[in-house]
Amino acid sequence: MKNTPTNSVSEGRGARKVAPKSSAAEGLRELFVDELKDIIYAERALVKTLPKMANNASDTNLKSSINEHVAVTEGQVERLVQVFQILGESDRGKKCDAMEGLIKEGESILEETEPGPVRDAGIISASQKIEHYEIASYGTLVAFAKILGEDEVASLLEETLAEEKDADVKLTDAAYNSINLDAAGEEAENTAAEEEEL
Ligand SMILES: [Fe+2]
Ligand SMILES: [Fe+2]
Repeated sequence: MKNTPTNSVSEGRGARKVAPKSSAAEGLRELFVDELKDIIYAERALVKTLPKMANNASDTNLKSSINEHVAVTEGQVERLVQVFQILGESDRGKKCDAMEGLIKEGESILEETEPGPVRDAGIISASQKIEHYEIASYGTLVAFAKILGEDEVASLLEETLAEEKDADVKLTDAAYNSINLDAAGEEAENTAAEEEEL
C-alpha cells in the first residue's frame, strides 16, 4: 500500500516559513515587551471607545457597568506604565491590529442595530469579545513575566487579569439575566405583529 504523505497540507503555498524582519525579537524578554506595547495600545484605544459603547446602551445596568470599566481601564493603563518603568522600557504603544478589528466590529454593530435591547445584546457581544482578547493577552503576559523572573510585574499584570475576568462575568450576567431575554422578547413581539399583519 502506498503511504499518503501526512504533511501535504503544510506544504501548501500559504504554509511557507516566514522570514523575520531585522527588528524581530530574539529572546522571550523582547517578545514580552513587544506584547506589552501591543496591550497598552489596546487599552488606550479602549479608553476612547468604551464611552461610545456606554452612550449607546439603553439598559442602565449595562451602561453603568461599561462606564465603570472605563475607569478600571484607565487604571490598567497606569499599571502598564508602571510595568514599563520597572522594566526600564518606554511605554510607547505599538498598533494592535486585533483590538483595532474588535473595535471596528463593535462600531459596525452599533450601525447595524436599532437602539434598545437588540443593540444592547450586540454591545454585550462585542464587549465580551474584547474582554476575552484581553484575558488571553494578560494570561500569556503573566506567564511570560513569571518565566522571566519579573515577579513584581507578574503580580501587577495578575491584578489586571482579575479585573478583566470580573468584567467578563458582569457582561455574562447582563446578557443572561435580562438583556438577551428582552431582545428575544422584542423579536417574538415583532414576529407576532408581522404574523397578525399577514
Ligand atoms: Fe483592559
Ligand atoms: Fe477589559
